[in-house]
Amino acid sequence: MEVKTSLLDNMIGVGDMVLLEPLSEDSFIANLRNRFDHNEIYTYIGSVVISMNPYRSLPIFTPEKVEEYRNRNFYELSPHIYALADEAYRSLRDQDKDQCILITGESGAGKTEASKLVMSYVAAVCGKGQEVNKVKEQLLQSNPVLEAFGNAKTVRNDNSSRFGKYMDIEFDFKGDPLGGVISNYLLEKSRVVKQPRGERNFHIFYQLLSGASDDTLKKLKLDRDFSKYNYLSLDSAAVNGLDDAANFRTVRNAMQIVGFMEDEVQSVLELVAAVLKLGNIEFKPESRCNGNDESRIKDKNDLKEMCELLGTEQTVLERAFSYRTVEAKQEKVCTTLNVAQAYYARDALAKNLYSRLFSWLVTRINESIKAAPKSRHKVMGVLDIYGFEIFEENSFEQFIINYCNEKLQQIFIELTLREEQEEYIREGIEWTNIEYFNNAIICDLIENHQNGILAMLDEECLRPGTVTDETFLDKLNTICAEHLHFESRLSKSSKFLTDHSLPHNCFRIQHYAGKVLYRAEGFVDKNNDLLYRDLSQAMYKANHSLMKQLFPEGNPAKVNLKRPPTAGFQFRHSVGTLMRNLQTKNPNYIRCIKPNDKKASHIFTDSLVCHQVRYLGLMENVRVRRAGYAFRQAYEPCLERYKMLCKRTWPHWRGPAREGVEVLMADLTVPTEEFSYGRSKVFIRNPRTLFSLEERRRQCLQDLATLIQKIYRGWKCRSHFLLLKKSQIVVAAWFRRYAQQNKYKRIKSATTVVQSYTRGWQARKLLRELKYQKRCEEAVTTISAYWHGTQARMELRRLKQEARNIHAVTVIWAYWQGTKVRREYRKFFRANAGKKIYNFTIQRIMQKYFLGLKSTMPSMSPIDKSWPVKPYLFLDGVHSDLRRIFHLWRCKKYRSEFTEEKKAVFEEKLEASEIFKDKKALYASSVSQPFIGDYLEISKNPKYQKLNSAMDEKVLLADVVNKINRANGKGTARIFLLTKNSVVLADQKTGQVKASVPLPDLTSVSVSTQSDGFFALKLKEGSASAIKGDFLLSSEHLIEIITKLHRTGATAADSEQLNIDISDEFLVQFKHDKVCVKFIQGGPKNGNSVSCKRKNNRLLEVSVPSTV
Ligand SMILES: Nc1ncnc2c1ncn2[C@@H]1O[C@H](COP(=O)(O)OP(=O)(O)O)[C@@H](O)[C@H]1O
Ligand SMILES: [Mg+2]
Repeated sequence: MEVKTSLLDNMIGVGDMVLLEPLSEDSFIANLRNRFDHNEIYTYIGSVVISMNPYRSLPIFTPEKVEEYRNRNFYELSPHIYALADEAYRSLRDQDKDQCILITGESGAGKTEASKLVMSYVAAVCGKGQEVNKVKEQLLQSNPVLEAFGNAKTVRNDNSSRFGKYMDIEFDFKGDPLGGVISNYLLEKSRVVKQPRGERNFHIFYQLLSGASDDTLKKLKLDRDFSKYNYLSLDSAAVNGLDDAANFRTVRNAMQIVGFMEDEVQSVLELVAAVLKLGNIEFKPESRCNGNDESRIKDKNDLKEMCELLGTEQTVLERAFSYRTVEAKQEKVCTTLNVAQAYYARDALAKNLYSRLFSWLVTRINESIKAAPKSRHKVMGVLDIYGFEIFEENSFEQFIINYCNEKLQQIFIELTLREEQEEYIREGIEWTNIEYFNNAIICDLIENHQNGILAMLDEECLRPGTVTDETFLDKLNTICAEHLHFESRLSKSSKFLTDHSLPHNCFRIQHYAGKVLYRAEGFVDKNNDLLYRDLSQAMYKANHSLMKQLFPEGNPAKVNLKRPPTAGFQFRHSVGTLMRNLQTKNPNYIRCIKPNDKKASHIFTDSLVCHQVRYLGLMENVRVRRAGYAFRQAYEPCLERYKMLCKRTWPHWRGPAREGVEVLMADLTVPTEEFSYGRSKVFIRNPRTLFSLEERRRQCLQDLATLIQKIYRGWKCRSHFLLLKKSQIVVAAWFRRYAQQNKYKRIKSATTVVQSYTRGWQARKLLRELKYQKRCEEAVTTISAYWHGTQARMELRRLKQEARNIHAVTVIWAYWQGTKVRREYRKFFRANAGKKIYNFTIQRIMQKYFLGLKSTMPSMSPIDKSWPVKPYLFLDGVHSDLRRIFHLWRCKKYRSEFTEEKKAVFEEKLEASEIFKDKKALYASSVSQPFIGDYLEISKNPKYQKLNSAMDEKVLLADVVNKINRANGKGTARIFLLTKNSVVLADQKTGQVKASVPLPDLTSVSVSTQSDGFFALKLKEGSASAIKGDFLLSSEHLIEIITKLHRTGATAADSEQLNIDISDEFLVQFKHDKVCVKFIQGGPKNGNSVSCKRKNNRLLEVSVPSTV
């Protein structure tokens, strides 16, 4: 909700002077002072803003403040220049009314600052965008440029505007700025050549010298030292708080933003430098033959440099400072200038040069900031003109300035009253005429075309003959003597004859703002503003880009013999234009007041303020405003503000606002003469009435505040209570839910338990019943079974008894029969019975024996020696026979399963047993050893490949044997091979055949009875093999070798049976002699091995350990 405020809220003193009660000058000033002391520098008189210069920066011009005042009604917030700017801008934008902001006040009162604040506010609130921002920036940046060239330090203001400025800012229909036009009024050019004590020349001179780079200064032929220049006042060259160097940079920058070209800036600076140089040119008198003194330039160096800067010819200028050409009616008269005239000419040139440069700058800025020609622009004009000035000595400038202010006051009165009047008419309120001082009479005194002071001055200036300030004053004294506001000692009005405050060479004007004494001296000259034609022509000729534009009258082609318009005339003309312009616009006033003369903050000099209040006509302003109605307000805000004072309008009024206000006023019993109803506003005549309304409102607000507080507290407590209640319900609900859930769970589990018990009980009951039933059934069955059993048993018993009875009868009968038969056959039985019983018994025993034997038969292994024990002694023979038969049968069975090879092996083994069993001790150990035959694996072993291939028969036996050396009984390893036809001995290492004996050549083999492996192969005498003698060999496989040899010999067709000679002593035929080999049982000294020793030539003794 937007909070409606009013300027009446938190007001310090009275925000609007119209409401001042009682209204007097004292209360007016006291109110200003009160507000000033509280930093409230702005106060309204209706819609006029009074601005007090605070001489210090206040925090009320921030962007936040801009936002605060933006789009708010004028009286809504405390007085502020922004409120005025906003009002003006909005009515320009929304109501399509051209506006002008008129800022008045004396020098140093803050007009220029105010104008800048207005511009900056408008810039801040108007449209945005790249193009718009550029325009805004250019408009704002025109200020520093103009201030540098047009402002100067004066005793009243360190930054005093020495020209009048009116700036039209142009807007489009949306309120976006398009551009602007600046008009300047009467630059105080006398300042260029001379400054009053304590004041400075225009800022730019100091800025240039302080801020320009050395390079620039060198180009401009300038020296940084101020004291080198006559035109610069030295006593106040440096100003506190003014940084000329920094400002120079600002100005350069601003010029660039505004759109000055670099060469333009350079040209401008050259002219500034030229003015400074010009001031340094000095003259000396030179006596001429006609007795007159002619002026000559003292030191031509400055002239030379100046000419270089301007591009003029030195001689031309030099001449122009010594001679003057007057042209009249095609006649040229050349007169010489004396030193004073030369100085006058120099200064006139400097002043003209500078003021024209200034005007050129304004034109140039306008070129940059001018808006594109469009059908319709809305315009806001800001007028910042020099204020009313009263010095000790006032001259032509003050006269002109004060005239301007007079005109502004005129327009102020006119427009304010007219506006007031128009409002009453607009609102349909009766208008009563108001008495006020109209300064039109003073304006008339000055500007009247026939006998106005300015007209008189012009007349004097244009009049032929000697014209001096005195003749001018005389004229005034004659013509204006009767005027109420003109005072002069010499006027015809006798009342001033004795007025000593009025010197003879002066006249006094009673301006609206006070009496000002003007010294007539210089009026004529300044009005003429004469620049010798020689000088303007010299300037025109200068080779400088700006000079032709600045001195157009110097163009020899356009020599105009008519005098140029006088300064007064020009000013009057431009003021007239300005006034006409302003009159077409809606005025907004800012009236600036200076609180003290010391440029100090916090000091409020009553007398000074009082003076300003008087001459600004502020009291009259208030009175005029109050003459009708002191206060007015639109119906809506009025009703909004006071509706709480009446029950019928509070809190809401449904009808039209005006009716609401009428009801309100009637209810409040406000006297009817105290107010009037306009079309859209209610007008309140007396501030008192307003204040009483305000007071009642304040009281009511307090009550309302209490009421609101009460209701709010009530509401707050109730909401809190409701919240608590709601929370409690929620909590309770949750708790109940929780409790019920628990209860439910408990009941559920209890139910389950009970249910389970019941079910259990029921089940058990059922079970019991079932069991009982079953038992009953079983009992029935049992009983019936028992009964049936009993029955059956009884029946059985009966049957048995019956059968027994029958059996007994049968038995008895059989016994009786038996007895009868036995008695019959007893005699037969005794003869044959013994033999038959015996046979039968024997038969039975045999039967039992055989059947028993069948079940206790031993295994089928031929080596199984077991056999059932004999059962009866009388079966001994049968038993052993059966054992043998069974063994034989078993062996047969065993044999029948033999393969041919196995059979051969067994045959060999059998043969071995036939040969050696019980004949040689070694045999026993050989039984369990299988006969392998080829121990060397001769066919597979690659070592014996050659040997094997030498054999033409299949090798039956291959083994390593020891060939016993006859000489020492030691053995040499030999390979022993047996084939079907022969025995071969070969070297064990090389496999070379040592001896091959065909089997038929073998006669016998000799072995010992003992467990050694010695054997001798004896050869047939006379055979080819026998040449080398018999072989005595030893082998571990002796039994096998001999057996195989025996078998092979037996199978060979052409050989005889090989004899096996087993004895412990046999002869061996070695090559030449026979040696006896004798085997003896060796003692333990021989160890476990068989040793063979030669005992003598004929005996080899072999010792065989008994254990082997
Ligand atoms: N609103 C303001 N806030 C702070 N200082 C101000 C304000 N208005 C004026 N001044 C001070 O007063 C001086 C003179 O103001 P200025 O506007 O130049 O006066 P005028 O144009 O009326 O001669 C300024 O340089 C500035 O120091
Ligand atoms: Mg100013």
